[in-house]
Amino acid sequence: MDSDIITFSSDNSDKKGVVSEHLAQEDRSPDIVSLRPTRFDDYIGQKDAVDTLKIAIQAAKLRNEPLDHILLHGPPGLGKTTVSHIIANEMGRELTVTSGPTLEKGGDLVGILTHLGEGDILFVDEIHRIPKVVEEFLYPAMEDFAVDFVFDKGIHARSHRFRLKQFVLIGATTRVGLLSAPLRDRFGIFRTLDFYSDEQLMVIIKRSAAILSTRISDEGAMALARRSRGTPRVANRLLKRVRDYAQVKYDGQVSISCVEEALVLEGIDNLGLTRLDRSYLKTIISFYNGGPVGIEAIAATLQEETDTLVDVVEPYLLKIGLVLRTSSGRRASEAACRHLKLDLKSK
Ligand code: ADE
Repeated sequence: MDSDIITFSSDNSDKKGVVSEHLAQEDRSPDIVSLRPTRFDDYIGQKDAVDTLKIAIQAAKLRNEPLDHILLHGPPGLGKTTVSHIIANEMGRELTVTSGPTLEKGGDLVGILTHLGEGDILFVDEIHRIPKVVEEFLYPAMEDFAVDFVFDKGIHARSHRFRLKQFVLIGATTRVGLLSAPLRDRFGIFRTLDFYSDEQLMVIIKRSAAILSTRISDEGAMALARRSRGTPRVANRLLKRVRDYAQVKYDGQVSISCVEEALVLEGIDNLGLTRLDRSYLKTIISFYNGGPVGIEAIAATLQEETDTLVDVVEPYLLKIGLVLRTSSGRRASEAACRHLKLDLKSK
């Protein structure tokens, strides 16, 4: 189980354990950790969520109490992990990171919980994928800061309650609808993170470029922001590809043309759509004549995981109106047909 958790001290410098296999690739990269803001003062966007969290943190500090448990919801890459690092930093507590699918048995979770100190923070990514047997240990842990062990079976069964320190659980999920009501109801703070505006992404890109000692023009930063699917993780990843391109093909400065050329190589179009986004839309338009079509049928045609389409592909396409979700299935919009230069067969 040690291989499935990572603990960060509040200044992010003292890493113990090994990073979870189940964290997103970017969350494991030391580069991204250093691009991450470590204080809310450096954090751009998500104003409502940040304001709520800042007040909760200030109040908890004034009362000298731990925070309420926090549930963060939103598509991947919008900063749920970053926010949990910031909360731990601002509270001056240790952060332990794990994820739902790595917690296979009750003992996996109990082992982590019993090592948490007073006010420490446990971040569970993809909390909607936590197995039911593990979830049942979470209820008394969240509510009473205790775990119940049962020894022996049948008439010899004995139960022992083990007291935990008052920890703070931060759960992150892309699918809040898959959380059971009893688990959802045990979080005192629930916030959804939204896609970032191009202007916010531009500020993030310029900040990251400065950290990476990369020169970038305002136009270059905006061109990159517009192709980043409203997502800082995408912006930071593409910035690195564009930085490489600028270094090899240009004089190192990231300009508009540098962004455009580098991202064509990456298969990213002028709306920031990836090859998978375009295949998804093309399947609905050409294979299912614009829809409506069920997600399982699209996934089968594309030979992709349904979860990848629902969690990663669809949220941004829905947000920019290229796909519509109806009671009878997904439909591609006229804007999607125009963007891909595809016509529907007349019905
Ligand atoms: N890097 C990633 N997300 C960020 C954010 N919201 N603000 C500043 N830098 C970031």
